[in-house]
Amino acid sequence: MIKRIVLSIFILTFLSLTSSIVATAQEEGTNARAATGGAQSLEDILNRQKGQKIDDEFRSGATGDPDSAASIASQLGTLGGVSDAEVYRALRYGSADVKVSNDGPASKVLIQDGGMKWLEFRQGPLKNYGGYLLLGVLILLGIFYIIRGKIMIDAGPSGVKILRFETAERFAHWLMAGSFMLLAITGLISLFGRFGLIPLIGKSAYAFIANISLFIHNWVSWGFMLGLLMVLCIWIKENIPNKHDLKWLAQGGGILKKGVHPPAKKFNAGQKVIFWIVMIFGASISMSGLSLLFPFQINMFASTFEMLNNLGISSLLGLGELKTTLAPHEEMQYAQMWHAIIAFVFIAVIFAHIYIGSVGMEGAIDAMTSGEVDEQWAKEHHSLWVEEVKQKQSNNAAQQSPAE
Ligand code: HEM
Repeated sequence: MIKRIVLSIFILTFLSLTSSIVATAQEEGTNARAATGGAQSLEDILNRQKGQKIDDEFRSGATGDPDSAASIASQLGTLGGVSDAEVYRALRYGSADVKVSNDGPASKVLIQDGGMKWLEFRQGPLKNYGGYLLLGVLILLGIFYIIRGKIMIDAGPSGVKILRFETAERFAHWLMAGSFMLLAITGLISLFGRFGLIPLIGKSAYAFIANISLFIHNWVSWGFMLGLLMVLCIWIKENIPNKHDLKWLAQGGGILKKGVHPPAKKFNAGQKVIFWIVMIFGASISMSGLSLLFPFQINMFASTFEMLNNLGISSLLGLGELKTTLAPHEEMQYAQMWHAIIAFVFIAVIFAHIYIGSVGMEGAIDAMTSGEVDEQWAKEHHSLWVEEVKQKQSNNAAQQSPAE
C-alpha cells in the first residue's frame, strides 16, 4: 500500500514538473522574438524543420536598428547597439554592406541558404524521377518492339537507291548527335556517379573518371551547339508544318499498323516534332549550360521569373508569385536544375528517335550512313518527297538535253 502511494506521488510530481517545463517553453517561445531583439523562437525553428513556410519578415527586416537590439545590461546585451545576430541576419538576407578584396557579385554573398534545397532536389527527386523516366522509356520501347516488331519495307527493297541526305546534312547530324551522346553519358556520370559508380569502383577511380567526364562535357558542348546551329539552318525550311502533317498524325504515321503509308514530304509530322523538340530543348540546354560554364556571368532566372509573373503564367501553373530577386548562387542553382531536367526529357525523346532510326525501322539508318535509301522505302515513308526528287531530276535532264 505504501509502495503504491509513493509511486503515485512520484508519477504526479513527474507529470506536473514536465507540464510546467512544456508550459514555460511555450511561453518562452512566444516571448522569444521580443527577448532576443527579433531572433527566431523555438516554434519558428521547429516549424522550419518541419518544412513549413514561415513568414520571416521579422528576421529579414530586423537589421541595423539599434532600438530593437537587446539592452546593454540584459543577458544578450550588445555593444554599440548592433548584435552579432543582426549582422548574420543582414548577411543572410543580402542587406549587409560587405566589402571583399576579390571582386564579383558572388564573393559578397557570405550566407546563402537556398543551397540546401538545391542539394536535396539534386540528390532526391531529380535523380530518382530522371532515372525512372529513362528506364521507363527504354522498357516501353522494348515492349513496342515486341508487339509491333521491326517496321519493314512492305513491298520489299527495290534495290534502286535514291540520295536522301547530302554529306553536309549527314555531317551536321552526326556532329550534333555524336556530341549529344557524349554529353548525355558524361552528364549522367556526374549526376549518378556518387550513387552508382563509387560503390563499384571506389572513390579514386571515380575521381579520375569524373574529371575526364567534366573535361569532355565542357568542351564537347561547343560541338553540340555548332551542330545544332548547322542542323537548324539546313533543315528549318523542310520542317515548317504543312497540311499533310495533320493527315499523317491522324493515321498515326502508319507506324502502328502494317500497310498504312500516309504521304509525307522530306520530313513527316513525327520527324518535325522531333526537329522542333531538338531545337527548343537544344537552345534551352545550351543557354543554361553556358550559364554554368561561365559562373555568375549569365543570369537568366530572375528575369524569366519576372516575365512569368507579369504574363500570369506562374499563377496559372499554381506556382504563385515567383521570386524575382535572386542571389548569384541561386541563379546558378536554378540553372543547374533546369539544365538537368531538360537533359532527362531530351535524352528520353532521343531514345525514341534512335530506336526508330535504327532497330525500329528497316532501311532508315542508310539515310544517315551512306546518305542513300532504297527507293521503295522512300516511296512508303516520304512519297511526296520522292515525287519532288523525280520532278527535279526530269527538269534537270530536260535542261541538259537541249531541244533539237
Ligand atoms: C545513334 C544515334 C542516332 C541515330 C541512329 C540517328 C538516326 C537518324 C536517322 C536515320 C535520321 C534520318 C531519318 C530519315 O531518313 O528520315 C535522323 C534524323 C534526325 N536526327 Fe538522328 N540519329 C541519332 C541521334 C540523334 C541525336 C542525338 C539527335 C539530336 C540531339 C538527332 C537528331 C535528329 C534530327 C533533328 C533529325 C531530323 C528529323 C528526324 O528525322 O527525326 N539524332 N537521325
